[in-house]
Amino acid sequence: MTGFIIVQPQVRPFVAHIQLNRPKELNALNLQLMQELRDALRELDADEQVRVIVISGNEKAFAAGADIRQMAGLTAMDMYNIDQFATWDAIKKIKKPLIAAVSGFALGGGCELAMLCDMIVAAETAKFGQPEIKIGVMPGAGGTQRLTRAVGKALAMEMVLTGKFISAEEALKSGLINRIVPVDLYLEEAFRLAAEVAKQSPLAVKMAKESVLRAFDSTLDEGLHFERKNFYLLFASDDQKEGMNAFIEKREPVFTGK
Ligand code: CAA
Repeated sequence: MTGFIIVQPQVRPFVAHIQLNRPKELNALNLQLMQELRDALRELDADEQVRVIVISGNEKAFAAGADIRQMAGLTAMDMYNIDQFATWDAIKKIKKPLIAAVSGFALGGGCELAMLCDMIVAAETAKFGQPEIKIGVMPGAGGTQRLTRAVGKALAMEMVLTGKFISAEEALKSGLINRIVPVDLYLEEAFRLAAEVAKQSPLAVKMAKESVLRAFDSTLDEGLHFERKNFYLLFASDDQKEGMNAFIEKREPVFTGK
């Protein structure tokens, strides 16, 4: 079985890199690729030497969406039985931060995968879109929900109903992405950002990620309660003692994830 991803577990200290690798098909996300991605992410999530994971495609495409050829002939019952988005639920459960490094096309499922990540670093060439409407369907892996939460109703509605792409510049302006860099630097910048996060306490990082994401699924009161419990819980960690003592002793902390 040919692999559709390339995994580098240590591209920087505590930073792993997964590259989507179906270049001829612009990294179209077929079932096998998504299963490989899910399995690799689960493995890296369990690896103590990994604290942050960068997902990229190549210069031309992050990913041009779900694999249209694979889906074209399917029936509703096939879709139900295959349950192709079940892998996405598993990826949503990854506790470590995921950073999408996007160059070129991030369309349909590609845009949805980038949005499933926690931060997005984009090359100037990046193009984001949910063009499913042009092939007679609609986004199915979170596009109507995560895009709307990120950029607001007006732009999300326009993108989803017309299939128009937006540039990296527009994506930055509308709050979809974190930053834009020249194309030859986008991967490097994603690794740099990942390394900055990887320096922090991995326990605090995981609980902070979980708490920020909770903001999308809860009322303010529930979210605040969740945040407070995680804050208190971190006082059970060595890293809390190390972080606070290092501050008082005016030195750099050394976090162990314990
Ligand atoms: N599925 C399957 N194959 C795809 C693909 C996709 N989503 N996107 C591109 N490809 C294939 C093309 O068929 C082509 O293959 P061949 O060389 O064998 O013909 C190859 O990748 C290169 O693509 P193009 O020749 O089309 O390249 P281009 O530079 O002219 O155009 C593009 C690039 C605008 C991205 C165009 O390929 C395109 O519109 N792709 C489809 C985008 C799309 O509709 N995505 C949504 C898919 S549905 C979805 O994602 C549902 C969901 O919510 C999860």
